Amino acid sequence: MRTQIAAANWKMNLALSEAEALVDQLIAVPHQLNNNQLVILAVPFPYLIAVQNKIAGKKNIFVAAQNCYTKKSGAFTGEVSAAMLQSIGVEYVVLGHSERREYFKEDNSLLADKVNIALEHNLKPVFCCGEPLAVREAGTQDKYVETQLQESLFHLSEHEITGFIIAYEPIWAIGTGKTATNQQAQDMHANIRSVIAGKYSVTVADSISILYGGSVKASNAKEIFSMTDVDGGLVGGASLIADEFITIMNSLK
Ligand code: 13P
Repeated sequence: MRTQIAAANWKMNLALSEAEALVDQLIAVPHQLNNNQLVILAVPFPYLIAVQNKIAGKKNIFVAAQNCYTKKSGAFTGEVSAAMLQSIGVEYVVLGHSERREYFKEDNSLLADKVNIALEHNLKPVFCCGEPLAVREAGTQDKYVETQLQESLFHLSEHEITGFIIAYEPIWAIGTGKTATNQQAQDMHANIRSVIAGKYSVTVADSISILYGGSVKASNAKEIFSMTDVDGGLVGGASLIADEFITIMNSLK
């Protein structure tokens, strides 16, 4: 079975003391995670080490950075490199979140560079894709997401893309309380898998964990995660509330 993942994206939220309290609450509950289930906490850069220390020794719980830069090192004030993340033992990095695409003008080609540098440093990307409302209304979301994958991921070798993590986050469902229907999520996830199967193979497509993101909460996680091609979620707002996120973790297949 594919890896099922509950990923928290804290975005730019919480003070350090709040972040630590949240992690304490999450790990206070003994989670029955199977070998095929993972929890990933994408936390702000300044909290990576503190959260790593808290979860040390916990099985199947990892931290992720929310971004990294395209260059290894140098005069890039304010940026954080994949090499730095690797040097502190981070294993995952979220790339291509729609907020980075929109506010920081990250395009598919820049994201291809970020994916490359992340892989060079043994980081596993959680690669985000998803369409804005206008594209959904025009009914061209399948092609839109396909282009995002083609331009940022399809230069990868079969070996590199096997086991990849992709998060489908329709922009119109992020932070809006408006979740895609289970069927809309399933349809897009199946589309993503079939595009990958076409480019690589069915075996490769079957190895990829495709997470749904956009207003996932305790009350809807189980039904969304139950869809055939949905392998968990990337959760914003609800991941900041311990009880909500614990229920979401427990909703994995
Ligand atoms: P919400 O869960 O707050 O809608 O955010 C989704 C998201 O952007 C996760 O990366």
